[in-house]
Amino acid sequence: MEKIALQQGFAKDVLDGLTAEKKYLSSKYFYNDRGSKIFRDIMRMPEYYLTDCELEIFKTHKDAMLKAFTENATRFELLELGAGDGLKTKILLKHFLSKAIDFKYAPIDISEEAVKTLINDLEKELPAVKTEGLVGDYFNLISNIGMNGYTKKVILFLGSNIGNFDEPTALHFLKQLRSAMNPQDQLLIGFDLKKDPQLILNAYNDPHGHTAAFNLNLLQRINDELHADFNLTNFAHREEYNPETGTARSFLVSLKKQQVTINETETTIRFEKDEKIFMEMSQKYDMQMINNLATRSGFEVENNFFDSREYFVNSLWERRS
Ligand code: AVI
Repeated sequence: MEKIALQQGFAKDVLDGLTAEKKYLSSKYFYNDRGSKIFRDIMRMPEYYLTDCELEIFKTHKDAMLKAFTENATRFELLELGAGDGLKTKILLKHFLSKAIDFKYAPIDISEEAVKTLINDLEKELPAVKTEGLVGDYFNLISNIGMNGYTKKVILFLGSNIGNFDEPTALHFLKQLRSAMNPQDQLLIGFDLKKDPQLILNAYNDPHGHTAAFNLNLLQRINDELHADFNLTNFAHREEYNPETGTARSFLVSLKKQQVTINETETTIRFEKDEKIFMEMSQKYDMQMINNLATRSGFEVENNFFDSREYFVNSLWERRS
């Protein structure tokens, strides 16, 4: 397995965020091995409808997807950004094998453990699939994507991962991705759609406490890696959703006036009671927003695959020339 150096800067990013007027932390740091494990628990809970929707889309449209992927090539490389446990992708992999398609699967994830587990799992479950795991931050890995220019690439960016980027970052990311793609390559990208606000709040404010643990794990990570003394019981998770903009936001709220020392950076952070740390955004889209994003980043929408409730869409994009 190839391991690509992760960007330095956890300490700096934490310090910038916690000393800002409105405190924030970056959700990209949620995914250490423990965070990735908690995220797997989130994906398996019934309230987190996104997983079931995408599973249904893959089951229903796997053949149409394969047709679209093989329209201009007989073989291709399937590159998955943020693969996690590959639960949904296995549906496609099994289908491609059953149709004797010549393809290779390259899962990419920031969590080494997630990639190792997935590759081991695939070797057992689907030994005929050719795999190559990559560990790293996909922002850094994008440039490597373009290197093998001879095989057609189908890039999967599933799970509405794009929704965790604010709009300028999403645009920058998509433009970078576009420039690493060859004209015949395609991008299959998952978007969670706007829907009944209560369903969205239930998915991010779950009764099992997984989402709270997911957020609090970042404070634990700061304790472990930057030698800080966050008392996790002094913070509570809170979710807000704005149906007009489609933005869901996660916060950790300080339950009392307190201070936290980060030894690594020699900083003391003061919190007022009820002061919030903005942790993560999860954008929800409508089709106009999706078309807009595609156009502004230099793509054309080739096809859209929906689940039966139209809660979610996997949108197939190609480069606009
Ligand atoms: C990875 N990402 C798309 C998830 C989401 O829905 O925004 C992360 C997540 N955060 C809380 N629950 C799930």
